[in-house]
Amino acid sequence: MGQDLEKVLVTEEEIKARLAEMGAQIDADYAGKDLLIVGVLKGAVMVMADLARALHSPVAMDWMAVSSYGAGTTSSGVVRILKDLETDIKDRDVLIVEDVIDSGLTLSWLVGNLKSRGPKSVEICTMVRKPLAFDVDLDVKYIGFDLPNEFIIGYGLDYAEKYRNLPFIGTLAPHVYEK
Ligand code: IMP
Ligand code: MG
Repeated sequence: MGQDLEKVLVTEEEIKARLAEMGAQIDADYAGKDLLIVGVLKGAVMVMADLARALHSPVAMDWMAVSSYGAGTTSSGVVRILKDLETDIKDRDVLIVEDVIDSGLTLSWLVGNLKSRGPKSVEICTMVRKPLAFDVDLDVKYIGFDLPNEFIIGYGLDYAEKYRNLPFIGTLAPHVYEK
């Protein structure tokens, strides 16, 4: 994958160190509670796997898959559930785990949807936040890295379903998407 990459923005070591800090914070915030972490497929697979192992409390894990309608690469905010939770979240403390928040539209829809099911709390944890996300009214409790408005790949993030398996976060070389 070497020549497909432009630059590395966050190294594997930096991700690991940040996840340890976020894990300690989440452990402290949810001490004595019965936390359910919800990964949003497919991008959050890596964050879920590593964050879960950075936690020292026995959390439950569940998954959702959503797709946002709309043309091209921009999010429309109209969302369809492709795979729903298997867990009843009524009266549960829920933490949504995401790879990236770009426009924030997908996530604000998801938060509304989960809140309508009567949970005790719903919070958000994301590995990356991009600056567009400031425009939408979304409280994000745990943020790995604030990155500039560039298309990124790796650590769960894809371009045309590829590069999710890179252990770091980087940008693509223009020849990959210009061909
Ligand atoms: P939203 O714009 O915050 O609704 O983001 C919707 C989805 O677009 C995210 O969950 C990602 O799957 C995808 N996405 C947004 N920005 C990037 C990126 O830079 N690289 C790869 N996927 C992205
Ligand atoms: Mg995602």
